Amino acid sequence: MRPYWMEEFGNASSIHLQGQKARTAVDHARETLARFFHCREAEVVFNSGGTEGDNTAIFGLLRPGDHFITTSIEHSAVLRAADRVAERGVEVTFVAPSANGLIDPERIRQAMRPATRLGDSRRTLVSVMLANNETGVVQPVEEIGSIAAEAKAFFHIDAVQGAGKVAFDVRRFGCHLCSISAHKIHGPKGVGAMYVRRGTPLEPLIVGGSHERRQRAGTENVPGIVGLGKAVELAMESLEDGTMERIAGLRDRLEAGILAISGTDVNGAGAPRAGNTTNIHFEHLEGEALVIALDLKGVAVSGGSACHSGSTEPSHVLMAMGLDKNAARASLRFSLLKTATDEDVDHVLRVVPEAVDRLRALAPLEASTLS
Ligand SMILES: Cc1ncc(COP(=O)(O)O)c(C=O)c1O
Repeated sequence: MRPYWMEEFGNASSIHLQGQKARTAVDHARETLARFFHCREAEVVFNSGGTEGDNTAIFGLLRPGDHFITTSIEHSAVLRAADRVAERGVEVTFVAPSANGLIDPERIRQAMRPATRLGDSRRTLVSVMLANNETGVVQPVEEIGSIAAEAKAFFHIDAVQGAGKVAFDVRRFGCHLCSISAHKIHGPKGVGAMYVRRGTPLEPLIVGGSHERRQRAGTENVPGIVGLGKAVELAMESLEDGTMERIAGLRDRLEAGILAISGTDVNGAGAPRAGNTTNIHFEHLEGEALVIALDLKGVAVSGGSACHSGSTEPSHVLMAMGLDKNAARASLRFSLLKTATDEDVDHVLRVVPEAVDRLRALAPLEASTLS
């Protein structure tokens, strides 16, 4: 990324040499993204990240009277956009997950409404995430894609968390739209991309210049796009060279070690999960206190999602899976970087049991006092 701030700082839309060097870099990243998505280069739109992708799919397709089917465990970039389109006359259906965090594709099928009359132009958009950001649970997007296709519905996948962690192919997923974000795959923050299947009648969210084939106006963030392209290239390598399996092995060891502590269980256990994440419920413990205790030992974990940190609201994802407020507040998410080592896991397994023992002894909270 550095040369594109310091030396090759041209605007990719300028025709002079500096501009063309920037354009070449953007084109190279687009070619990488097309390989990653398994789509045409013209179907890749660069943007500012997952929130913009999710918002574009929802605001760009749905009109008053249309039907939006999504799930109650989506990221707030989808949930808040759903609230907004509902205010504008879109019918919104939230499908709840099973207790293990999986969305049953049949429930998506049941949510579909039959067309009310022949030639009805009412659109249906289904939006389901690939992997959940709190539990890592990987959703059956292929089955959901087939159901959407049968019903002639549009299908958007929020793949912000699944990208780089599970095998990826938008054709196999059967989606029209798919959002990813660089910072979830070790790339820079504030940049992402969206796959837009050719022919999808998507209105741009941001209008102005003719950038990105008129699908997303604004001067391209060249260093960010270069960083996204490199991150995607490395993510594809990690999926093939065994790195993600190594990480899943470390996660399993971490999980087994933590489960040796009494009164612990895994949220999303039994469901397919991204290999880098585990979400653990520690009975009779205030999750926030454990976050702080572990931070002091150099271990960065979170309760709920980073977007809600600072809020005392228990996780909407865990509550949708049937946990009560106390259990949701007593749950923490551990995510492993792709650079994680055996020593990192050893360190976490040393400090977590100590911290849990100490906190439980200090404040032997009964579940009922936590509400
Ligand atoms: C599943 C999911 N969707 C969307 C987003 C939002 O992406 P961004 O932060 O790039 O806007 C995130 C988190 O950052 C996420 O985890």
